[in-house]
Amino acid sequence: MKKLLAPSILSADFTHLKAQIEETEKAGADILHLDVMDGHFVPNLTFGPPLISQIRSITNLTLDVHLMISNPENTIDSYIESGADWISVHPETVRHLHRLITHIKSGKRKAGVVLNPSTPLVLLEDILEELDFVLLMSVNPGYGGQAFIAGVKEKITRFIEMRAKRNCEHVLLELDGGIGLNNIKELATLGVDVFVAGSAVYHSFNIQETIKEMKQLI
Ligand code: DX5
Ligand code: ZN
Repeated sequence: MKKLLAPSILSADFTHLKAQIEETEKAGADILHLDVMDGHFVPNLTFGPPLISQIRSITNLTLDVHLMISNPENTIDSYIESGADWISVHPETVRHLHRLITHIKSGKRKAGVVLNPSTPLVLLEDILEELDFVLLMSVNPGYGGQAFIAGVKEKITRFIEMRAKRNCEHVLLELDGGIGLNNIKELATLGVDVFVAGSAVYHSFNIQETIKEMKQLI
């Protein structure tokens, strides 16, 4: 399976956002990862559907919207309509997870569940078949530039085993947080399919070169 790189604009320069998204696309990134934070589920605040719609109008990249918001069911339709291609939610924020996942898929979007570093894989047990992807957090959500939590490597291996046992290889494994040139190759070897990288891309000296190097390493 082809491995995919998903730069996260959380660490981009928002005063030059259009230019940086164009660079991201030109360098051969596969996906654009968009971190939506509400200052409630996570202690930071970013953007919502209006900005996502504007980004939709300037890029052909797949838009991967990571919702770090309380009660996403209340506003999910505005994210579906914004032009997001992939939408993921944290189970801690949702009252009826199966209903919400089914709703996202009926809106012709790919649906994913995100697990925090300390949220156990068992939460996927009765929803795995329904998912298009699982996003494992390798930092606690809320900020870019945090250190990779090494204990998550063992969780990646357990997820891959669980996925194989359940014949769910179509469910992609995405990893988010603390990924850079120093560890991306090792994580690819462990079996990660989709790599989110924020600060490692947008705080680097040359965005395009970094994306190309990362793609070579996976
Ligand atoms: C953190 C976000 C990440 C963030 C990753 O809550 O979900 O997507 O942008 O940033 P880095 O790659 O700098 O750890
Ligand atoms: Zn994210």
